[in-house]
Amino acid sequence: MSFAEAERSEVERPEYTAERVMTKRKDQGRGSPADKNAGAERSAAPFVPGTTSISALRAAAPGCRGCDLYKTATQVVFGAGPVKARVIMVGEQPGDQEDRQGVPFVGPAGAMLDKALEDAGIPRSEVYLTNAVKHFKWEPRGKRRIHKKPRISEIKACRPWLEAELRAVKLQILVCLGATAAQSVMGSQFKLMQNRGKLLALPPDSKESALPVEQVVTTIHPSAVLRAPDTEGRRAAYESLVADLRVVAKAIRG
Ligand code: URA
Repeated sequence: MSFAEAERSEVERPEYTAERVMTKRKDQGRGSPADKNAGAERSAAPFVPGTTSISALRAAAPGCRGCDLYKTATQVVFGAGPVKARVIMVGEQPGDQEDRQGVPFVGPAGAMLDKALEDAGIPRSEVYLTNAVKHFKWEPRGKRRIHKKPRISEIKACRPWLEAELRAVKLQILVCLGATAAQSVMGSQFKLMQNRGKLLALPPDSKESALPVEQVVTTIHPSAVLRAPDTEGRRAAYESLVADLRVVAKAIRG
């Protein structure tokens, strides 16, 4: 998919505009077909095998009932990439295309990310891609399935899978794409726009600090580029994404 096609096909995702990326929506998650039983404390932990084998984790993921999102998704979308990747990139959740194909970042946001990686000088072959939430959450609009932002409880419920991936992949640097991933990794008070593009450590003395990660870079989600209101906004958002990713490129080159 070309850059222009990617731009055209992302018209329904207001959650990701650069301006709104840190805005907590009051209606977050309400009314989705997957929202029944939201509220109860749920976790994927009982479904995550105690292994550092990515293939064993991937094989177990379809059995996860740690939240209700599996009920309305086509399939679980587990992470993909080399287990010796130097970089793990974490997005929010699979989109419509990813849900159909079962692979992360194969839709419009993925096309944008691929281009930004290339421009930043990060070989795609060195990146393991995954999401904070492993099922597509959506709501119907006519015949279309429109992305719906996951609830904090769903992000928390899915976190044991991310932790297991981080233990299994021998990463050097973790990159959070967008506020959902950043808050899943750095804690719910993390301010993306104030801290993006910097080499960070996990917050000390927190449950996040138990993650096997030494360096974190946060940046906007590639969909924020697609959602910018005009050409100039898209250009600026794209350049800022590439600039943040260059920090990652420099770090992995040592
Ligand atoms: N957006 C994400 O955050 N992840 C994907 O896999 C696709 C789109």
